[in-house]
This record gives sequence, C-alpha cells and structure tokens, in this order.
Amino acid sequence: MVIRDRDGKDYIDASGGAAVSCLGHGHKDVLAAMHAQLDKLAYAHTSFFTTEVAEELGDDLVAHAPAGTSHVYFVSGGSEAIEAALKLARQYFVERGETSRRHFIGRRQSYHGNTLGALAVGGNEWRRKQFAPLLIATHHVSPCYEYRDRRADETAEQYGERLARELEAKVLALGADSVIGFVAETVGGATSGAIPPVPGYFRRVREVCDRYGILLILDEVMCGMGRTGTLHACEQEGIAPDLMAIAKGLGGGFAPIGAVLVGAKIFDALQQGSGFFQHGHTYLGHPLACAAALAVQRVIRRDGLLDNVKRQGAYLARRLGERFGNHHHVGDVRGRGLFQAIELVTDRAAKTPFDPKLKLHARIKQGAMARGLMVYPMGGTIDGAKGDHVLIAPPFIVDETVVDTVVDRLGEAVDAALKDVA
Ligand SMILES: Cc1ncc(COP(=O)(O)O)c(C=O)c1O
Repeated sequence: MVIRDRDGKDYIDASGGAAVSCLGHGHKDVLAAMHAQLDKLAYAHTSFFTTEVAEELGDDLVAHAPAGTSHVYFVSGGSEAIEAALKLARQYFVERGETSRRHFIGRRQSYHGNTLGALAVGGNEWRRKQFAPLLIATHHVSPCYEYRDRRADETAEQYGERLARELEAKVLALGADSVIGFVAETVGGATSGAIPPVPGYFRRVREVCDRYGILLILDEVMCGMGRTGTLHACEQEGIAPDLMAIAKGLGGGFAPIGAVLVGAKIFDALQQGSGFFQHGHTYLGHPLACAAALAVQRVIRRDGLLDNVKRQGAYLARRLGERFGNHHHVGDVRGRGLFQAIELVTDRAAKTPFDPKLKLHARIKQGAMARGLMVYPMGGTIDGAKGDHVLIAPPFIVDETVVDTVVDRLGEAVDAALKDVA
C-alpha cells in the first residue's frame, strides 16, 4: 500500500488514489492473472467475439449482485458506466412505448463523473458551471446530508422521510409519466465526503420510485465493491436498484474497468423489443481489464477481505473519533467501512466553513504528502464552493498499525494546515 516517488520517498496510500486501489499496489495474484490473460488474448472487439474471462466475470458479478440483477454491461470506468445506465434507462421506456419519459432527477452535491451526461445528473455546481449550456436538462433534490441538513427537531428517520417527500414532490411537479429515473450515490463520495444515508431513506426512495414506475439508478462507483464492508453499499439499506454503476474497486486500479449491473426487467424489455442496446465503445469488456477485475474479486472473497473492511473500518472510525472527535476545527467524523471522512469548520457550534479562498483542503493534501501520506481532501463540500473535507479510503488489506500511522500523520497534516489559516 505504498507508492515511492522518483526521489525514493514513500507514501502510504490511504485513499487508494480516489478510492480505487482496494488491494494496494502490485498484488501478485492479480498481476499473475493479468499476465496469463495477456498470453491468451489481449483484445477482441465485442461485435465479433465475447471472451471466457468477460463471461466469467459477468457470471461472478451477477451471482453476487443485488436481487433482480440479471446482466452486466462492461465499460472502462465510472463515467462510462453512468452514461450507459442513463441510456439504458431511457431505452427501457422507449421499448415499452413510454416515449414521453425524459427527465432524470439527481441530487445536489453528488458526483457521477465528468462526461456530459454524468455531469448533467451530477449536482456539483463548480464542476457543472462552465459546461451548463451543453448539459441535458436535469432536476436536482437535496442530498442526504445529516450533519448539516437534519433539523434539531427531527429524528434521522423523519429527516429521511422529509427527503423522500421532496423527491415525490419533484416527480409530481415534473409529471410522473415524464420521469425516467432517480440517480444517487448510495454513500456520497468525492464531492461530499463519505456521507452515509440515514436509516430508512433509501427504502422510502425505493417506494417513491415504485409508486410512479421510475427507475432507481444507484451510483456505487466509489462506495461499492466492498468499500463499506458489504460488496454493495445498498445491501445495508435493504433495497435493490434497477440499474447500478460500479467501477473503481471492481478492477482495483489494475486496469480501467466499470460496469452497469442491469435489472432483469430492463434486460427483458430490450430483448423482447428491439433486441439490442443502442450503445457501445471499442473497449467494452476488454479481456485484460476483465481478468484484473475477476482476480480482484476472487482475492477479496478468498481472503475474507470484506470482514477486514468491517473490522478495520470500525477501528479507523474509532481512531479518527479519538483524534478528531473533540478537535476545534473538525465538525464531523463520518463514513462507513473503509470509507471515512472528516469535515473541517471554523466553529463547531455554528458549523461555519473556512473561507474557500484559503484552500484548506489543498493545504492538508500538501501537508499529508510532505509526511508521506496520501488522503483525498476536497473543497466545496457544502455547495460546490464552501466547505472542506478529507476522505480516507485505505485498501482492504490495511491493518491496525497502518491505520494508527495514517491517523497520526493526518492529524499532524491537519494541525499544520490549520496553523497557517486559523
Ligand atoms: C460516485 C462516482 N461516480 C462516477 C465517477 C466517475 O468515475 P470515473 O472517474 O472512473 O469516470 C466517480 C469518480 O470519482 C465517482 O466517485
């Protein structure tokens, strides 16, 4: 889990890059599987051939997928997975003759990728702003952001209920038969800093979607594939989506790969209709990427690594709580499994963010790198402009000793950055 720079300095990779490298760097079993695949076949275009390895990976993913998933569509990353999911969702309704369905609803502050469709459903204002004239019209509701948005007179469940009603009101305002789907990260990631949903929220969201025949499209590109302690984060919510985007931890960074897990009802509608999905990229189901992903998934199961994610996730949360729980400038320590974050504030009681001009997040990143630590700080946590958080997402092979070092170095980096600005 260490990267060495050209000067010989080592960095503990406690964020897996951007929550990607779930087995660290250079896992020998994954590399061996990739070498073996290269010796067999490096590439075949999917319009001519499928490959054994892509079929095996597809079967493997379906076998462990949320209920109702029957097929997998491979792509090369997270944004591509979202694009494919959006198009599949629209085509599903076209096949059924519901051609008036055209609206997607996303959440403010979400991140779904940088391509135009993904940016459109995404809710991060800073990322969308200059490209706004090019984006398909989408609609946004509130994120599930308990630390800032739950009112003092509400329980977590009541807050979740309020958000579900907001979604329902948006559906009704648009006209229920004009809406295609609701797109959400199960646990908010890069732009919001590991924000878990409140209990019951996604069950109510699922109900709203079902009531109006709308598809639930979950984005587990960052929070999925084991990062929260279960293979899919939605397992902990007791719901299954109609479509789900996965990437990052799927291939663990050994090769670029993403996928859409496709519900049977969507597949059946296409199969019984036009018979094909009107989409495609040159590198769909790339054999080397599939070999890497299959090996990563097998190692996670063979070595019982989801148990380690739960165990080390709890330990990391505890250690972060000890180090930052009473810190003057840390308002929230949150997350799930090995997907944790701290949010920085000038004043804990008022939850006031730092002036964005100070770029506190960038200073923390610099300070962490100087101390041989990679974490994933980001600014604009609250509204795309204000707020700073630091995401910590170590590989699933992490142990207590490394967690201790990570928390120590992060503590030093945060304090040093604060000394410069506070
Ligand atoms: C939740 C989520 N969706 C989509 C993406 C886009 O994935 P990619 O960068 O592989 O295109 C990301 C990347 O950070 C992400 O966190």
